[in-house]
Amino acid sequence: MNATGLGERDAEAVAAASERRWTYIVAVVIGLLVGMMIITGLHWSAMPPSRVETVDVKTLHIKGEFIESNLGTTLEPDGRVLVRMIGQQYSFVPQCIVVPENMPVTFRATATDAIHGFVVGQSNANTMLIPGFVATFTTTFPKAGEHLMPCHEYCGTGHEAMWARVHVISQQEFLSRARNERRMSCVSG
Ligand code: CUA
Repeated sequence: MNATGLGERDAEAVAAASERRWTYIVAVVIGLLVGMMIITGLHWSAMPPSRVETVDVKTLHIKGEFIESNLGTTLEPDGRVLVRMIGQQYSFVPQCIVVPENMPVTFRATATDAIHGFVVGQSNANTMLIPGFVATFTTTFPKAGEHLMPCHEYCGTGHEAMWARVHVISQQEFLSRARNERRMSCVSG
């Protein structure tokens, strides 16, 4: 008999039972963790984050799709509306963007110096512009009007003065303008 009043054998049985209990608990915890890894692994391989596309910040201004004469809105030959733009300290180029209402609009944008934020008014257009990477997303603006497009990522002392406008015009007006202008902007028309 020991101090607890249990026999040597009983004490051994209690210790073994408690040991076994812990084995089960640890097995369940490990099982949960492995299960989580498998589920998240499958989930991400089924729904990967959008592809990564890079661009050379050093040559962005002089060649390729982000040269100044190529920025703005175009109606592509295949009927897609494409907007190319850049964010830099402390402005967006172009300053004002024209898009049609109720048509999918694809944005392709990047930054030249720091990380800038890109958000259009009340729409779901919201992303970050990161130097060296091309941000792409497609959205639709349901009704004509004007949206503010402020930079929403702190990018330096001029951050709060960095914003642009998005002009949503009717589909008819957009398509008729697209016939005459290769690149559309807010001023012409
Ligand atoms: Cu650009 Cu804040």
